[in-house]
Amino acid sequence: MKDISASGSLMPAFATDIYKTELAGTSADSLVTRLDTGCRRMAVDDREGQQWSKRNGYPGYTSYPSVPDPADVDDAFAELKPVLAYQAALFAAQAQLDLGGKKLRVTRLWINLLEPNGAQPSHIHTHSVLSGTLYTSVPENSGKLRFEDPRLGMMMHAPARLPDARLYRQTFIPVIPQRGTLLLWESWLRQEITTNLATGPSVSLSFNLNLEN
Ligand SMILES: [Fe+2]
Repeated sequence: MKDISASGSLMPAFATDIYKTELAGTSADSLVTRLDTGCRRMAVDDREGQQWSKRNGYPGYTSYPSVPDPADVDDAFAELKPVLAYQAALFAAQAQLDLGGKKLRVTRLWINLLEPNGAQPSHIHTHSVLSGTLYTSVPENSGKLRFEDPRLGMMMHAPARLPDARLYRQTFIPVIPQRGTLLLWESWLRQEITTNLATGPSVSLSFNLNLEN
């Protein structure tokens, strides 16, 4: 029995896992280079996507509404899809997700070219299980990917966290990517891209995965 004034202990609960890896090494580096070239080429060639981006105030170019599957257009994207599915399986295993014997497959893959001063507001990825982003060009001071505590809407009277509180206790967690950084998270997790303060565009591929037999 402890003394009444003795300190108790904390039991961390309800973890939110964010998976991060770097696609490095010779073959990965070559793939990232080809993906970056393919993204930039599509940003130039895809008139429909350019027009959609302009009409909807997207600060750059996205292929999301205009190109159902970039893998049909460029082999580099086709090569990437199984890599993403493999990494997603590693994430699911580490996060101890019960996939019910099903496999994670990439169901959407799209290009984001964010121009200087561009940002993307907070959002979730609907109708999917896991989501992620792979960065192919990250000029210095281009935006961070900032994740938001999913419980934020319930924190009406919760005190702010101390500035030096442990990272997993912070309300917002910014990740500064590099070329080749691959991030994965559960699709309900809200994220935003902070303003690109670089002089050139940042280029990335975002994707959703779902469970299939
Ligand atoms: Fe996103």
